[in-house]
Amino acid sequence: MSDLINLFNKAKLLIIVFTFAAILLSEYSYPQSQGEIIYKRTCIACHTIGSGRLVGPDLKNVFNKRSEEWIISFVKSSQRMIKRRDPDAVVLFNEYNKSIMPDQNLTDDQIKDVMRYIKKQSSGSGQTTALTEDIKSSTGMTIDEAGENEVSAGRNLFLGKVRLTNGGPACMSCHNVTAENLIAGGLLAMDLTNTYSRLNAPGVYSIMFSSPFPIMNAAYNNNKITKDEAFYLIAFLKHADINSVNQQPVNYQSNFILMGLLGAAILFGIYGGIWWNRKRKPVNDKIFKRQLKTF
Ligand code: HEC
Ligand code: HEC
Repeated sequence: MSDLINLFNKAKLLIIVFTFAAILLSEYSYPQSQGEIIYKRTCIACHTIGSGRLVGPDLKNVFNKRSEEWIISFVKSSQRMIKRRDPDAVVLFNEYNKSIMPDQNLTDDQIKDVMRYIKKQSSGSGQTTALTEDIKSSTGMTIDEAGENEVSAGRNLFLGKVRLTNGGPACMSCHNVTAENLIAGGLLAMDLTNTYSRLNAPGVYSIMFSSPFPIMNAAYNNNKITKDEAFYLIAFLKHADINSVNQQPVNYQSNFILMGLLGAAILFGIYGGIWWNRKRKPVNDKIFKRQLKTF
């Protein structure tokens, strides 16, 4: 009998050991380095390794032309380097139409990990990690073919007149675009009027799907924009960009105060008119005056 219990306990122990082993093995069966994780979470929206320029330069073999310290410092804060007039950083910044690479809150070791991953990908011939694909609508239309209907669909999505299928917030809650019939949008994030000419369709596309900007990423990570929605939005941004030369940026700030004062004056006028018989003097005014007369 006690033999049986012993056997039973052993079996239980084995099950526990196997379960743990299975969990541990599954953890290790994805040999994704930290560098790869960081790269795919952040850098991939703007860079490729061997597939050409996206928002930023192709990072294939970047370490052949830059030192490790330079890269670490650039990734941490490219703008600090540009302000310090680092010649390579300034040339690069101008070459990329002054697109700002956002500061990355990474340690030296994490950046070295990312570089190791890029090195590995650079040596594998034909390895690409680009998110870019041909950007087309589900009907096969290209951005160049997009017409008034597509632009208008994009405008409605941008403004939130039409809801995004998966429930993400309208772009206008954070961004502004200067285009016809648009009221000023959010100022939390940058104005997107000329984004298209800086980033081109692939850049805008990848930022929508895997935004390197934490705030924007949080907004869409669980509410993915669909491919068609992205297509319409890009068509709209392109249209706004091309037409931006004809647009005057609307300054609501000074108008706002003026309209406020004017509105207040008009309202006081109306109230005064409607309520003409209101008591304008103390309640006892009549009594007071009567008493004055009796003196
Ligand atoms: C929002 C887009 C964006 C993201 C995200 C981004 N970069 Fe960049 N990166 C750029 C741009 C644009 C440049 C070109 C320089 C400039 O405009 O400041 C650049 C330049 C670089 C350079 C210099 C390349 C060269 O040819 O000298 C390196 C290295 C680099 N990025 C690494 C990274 C790494 C690593 C990550 C992820 C941790 C990352 N970048 C994330 C946009 C981005
Ligand atoms: C929750 C706020 C938020 C929403 C909503 C949002 N974004 Fe962004 N977006 C950001 C932030 C923050 C940045 C980083 C740039 C900055 O700080 O201004 C950014 C950057 C971008 C950029 C890069 C601009 C450039 O020229 O470098 C593009 C393109 C973009 N957003 C497109 C969109 C589109 C299209 C939508 C709607 C589908 C959208 N965003 C909705 C917050 C948001």
